[in-house]
Amino acid sequence: MADKISVMIPEDEVNAKIRELAEKISRDYEGKEIHIICILKGGVFFACELAKRITVPVSLDFMQVSSYGNATSSSGIVRIKKDLDDSMEDKEVLIVEDIIDSGKTLHYLIPVLKQRNPKSIRLCALLNKPDRREAEVEIDYLGFDIPDEFVVGYGLDYAQKYRNLPYIGVIELDAE
Ligand code: IMP
Ligand code: MG
Repeated sequence: MADKISVMIPEDEVNAKIRELAEKISRDYEGKEIHIICILKGGVFFACELAKRITVPVSLDFMQVSSYGNATSSSGIVRIKKDLDDSMEDKEVLIVEDIIDSGKTLHYLIPVLKQRNPKSIRLCALLNKPDRREAEVEIDYLGFDIPDEFVVGYGLDYAQKYRNLPYIGVIELDAE
């Protein structure tokens, strides 16, 4: 049966926020080049829309991680499923992620990436659920703080579906 999805953040608000973030990032990195590391798969829609609006030179690389745990909570032990193709040595790295939830994934990953000697490393996330935080993560560029609800769209999935929705939605589970 089709899930009913209600809109939490409409498409035009998401797009306006991404434009705003891109302007801020472009100003902050004036005269520099940005090496975006997109965290697959969820970060991919956001990373593309963001990168399109950044006015300084951008290069892109991709990484896929998974954290051991069950469907709704992560253990904090992170496995790199797909590593980067390019070196990040001496680059101004901007990690682009869909959502920071418990914080465990990025809390683990950022120190690992710092060991690869980037010139700088910052984090940009579209969404943040502050109520769920278990491990500290500093978010340098944030789209929206949201309440503790499971969201889909703009890269975020429920059982691999709904990543392609152009807005942020909440699934209303059927009360049959
Ligand atoms: P963290 O390590 O708990 O911060 O987990 C972050 C990852 O969990 C994100 O990159 C998402 O893949 C996934 N995640 C967390 N909350 C949601 C949600 O509401 N919808 C879809 N995926 C989510
Ligand atoms: Mg993710």
